Amino acid sequence: MSEATNSVRFVLDGTIVEAQGKRRTTTVLDYLREEMHRTGTKEGCAEGDCGACVVLVGELNAGGTAINYVPSNSCMQLLPSLDGKSVKTVESLKSKDGTLHPIQQGMVDCFGSQCGFCTPGIVMSLTGLVQTNACPSRAQINDALSGNLCRCTGYKPIIDATLKACQRPAAELKINDTADVALLKQIARDSEPTVGLDGQIITQPVVRTKKGSEFVSPSTVDEVATYLTKHPQATLLAGSTEIGLQVNKQFSRPQHIVYLGNVAELKAVKDSKDAWSIGAATPLAVVETLVAKAYADFAEVIRRFGSPPIRSTATLAGNIANGSPIGDTMPCLMALGATLVLRAGEKTRKVALDAFYTGMKASVLQAGEFIVSIELPKPKAGQVFRAHKISKRFDQDISATCAAMRYELVGGKLKNVQIAYNGMAPSPCRAPKIEAVIEGKAPADVRAADIDAAITASFPARDGLRATWAYRSLVARNLLMQFVEESVEKEVA
Ligand SMILES: Cc1cc2nc3c(=O)[nH]c(=O)nc-3n(C[C@H](O)[C@H](O)[C@H](O)COP(=O)(O)OP(=O)(O)OC[C@H]3O[C@@H](n4cnc5c(N)ncnc54)[C@H](O)[C@@H]3O)c2cc1C
Ligand code: FES
Ligand code: FES
Repeated sequence: MSEATNSVRFVLDGTIVEAQGKRRTTTVLDYLREEMHRTGTKEGCAEGDCGACVVLVGELNAGGTAINYVPSNSCMQLLPSLDGKSVKTVESLKSKDGTLHPIQQGMVDCFGSQCGFCTPGIVMSLTGLVQTNACPSRAQINDALSGNLCRCTGYKPIIDATLKACQRPAAELKINDTADVALLKQIARDSEPTVGLDGQIITQPVVRTKKGSEFVSPSTVDEVATYLTKHPQATLLAGSTEIGLQVNKQFSRPQHIVYLGNVAELKAVKDSKDAWSIGAATPLAVVETLVAKAYADFAEVIRRFGSPPIRSTATLAGNIANGSPIGDTMPCLMALGATLVLRAGEKTRKVALDAFYTGMKASVLQAGEFIVSIELPKPKAGQVFRAHKISKRFDQDISATCAAMRYELVGGKLKNVQIAYNGMAPSPCRAPKIEAVIEGKAPADVRAADIDAAITASFPARDGLRATWAYRSLVARNLLMQFVEESVEKEVA
């Protein structure tokens, strides 16, 4: 066992913190509050909804010259995943001479806080925003705040505070982290696994308990595959927005946890002529930017997925593997014909996403098998893609249903129609009977009654917590009718 075992090292404001003897499921929030006495960071819901716990997690940029920060719900992140990274809390922002960060000062000047419980999380979300966007629009500020609940102040003074802060020079908005860069290099995790004399990969745990439970953080896909061959029941951890819930709310304590966030290959996007190969651990915020031009509706569905702290950590493969019936990225990916690359041991296979699910939260994934990448075709000439998510609240809410449709309009007829939904069946799925109703027709000839009949023939009628069947089936039809009606404007010359 190496000396580093059972020791999580991260940078906090110019100091390397070495957290020893902690559990593999200790949350970042609990450690910050209970051990570091950073009690500005609050626990509200412990499930990613309120934002009281938002901190900024930093990693060195590719050149090793600066730190990139993402907002993160510390209530759901497991402490060992912080190994090799840096963290900033609300206490990090005030200068030694007592000067507040412009966002903090703006909150004071614009009366942005009343009871104050939400304030540290709000300040961290906004400070995160201005690290990459020193001149945000009102809409961008609203989006940055979509995961922060304030029940007493109201958002106008908070937005005003941000706009006021952004009148200051951009350099003043930057977090002071010059001392942290060198320290991050010092604690950087190895980019290659340890190899034994016989050529076997040896995975050193970040945390291992006396009873043999462990948290490992592999650095290559081979290392993940080798570890899963030995421990096929191990729990894969990516963005932790689902696993974190299981830890907090169901008291889940997986014996072996394999963190994917340090596998560079799983976070890379490979670009070829016809497709993108998106590494399984790519955060949704990165996917949103990737698809923004080619598939604007897909990007908008992602923009309405959770909140910025959720999207900056939650991954595409985590959404797929989680297999929720109302998972939001799957209708888009299915309608676009995405394929998954799966690996178990040395073996790799490809499975079309629309053949991946076998039931409610069930898939063809075997024990020890994992998603390596998602292959997403690029748009072909003349192809149109539409998608829209229906939920009770516009932001930070779960779908009643999300519909996605791709097609071409050739000679006035809808061709190569592919449709997929979430919320209509035990898993997200394609809708071949509805596709058949639309395929080959002129938009004006597509009748709502035929789509209704195909919906009835395709899905079991069931009321759910978030919507009745009557509502779901109605919006499922209306979304398609809207896509079809608008298709007239999209005919290729
Ligand atoms: C506040 C909040 C808001 C949310 N909003 C939405 C929303 O709007 N829409 C929506 O669809 N979902 C939403 N979710 C659900 C969740 O965020 C997503 O399912 C997310 O994509 C999960 O990804 P993750 O990387 O965080 O997964 P994790 O929590 O790390 O893992 C989820 C599951 O996937 C498995 N897994 C991860 N990576 C792999 C891999 N490479 N191969 C095989 N298995 C793997 C894990 O073992 C686990 O079973 C929300 C969750 C929260 C807490
Ligand atoms: S405590 Fe509510 S989001 Fe973390
Ligand atoms: S100031 Fe009280 S919840 Fe926001």
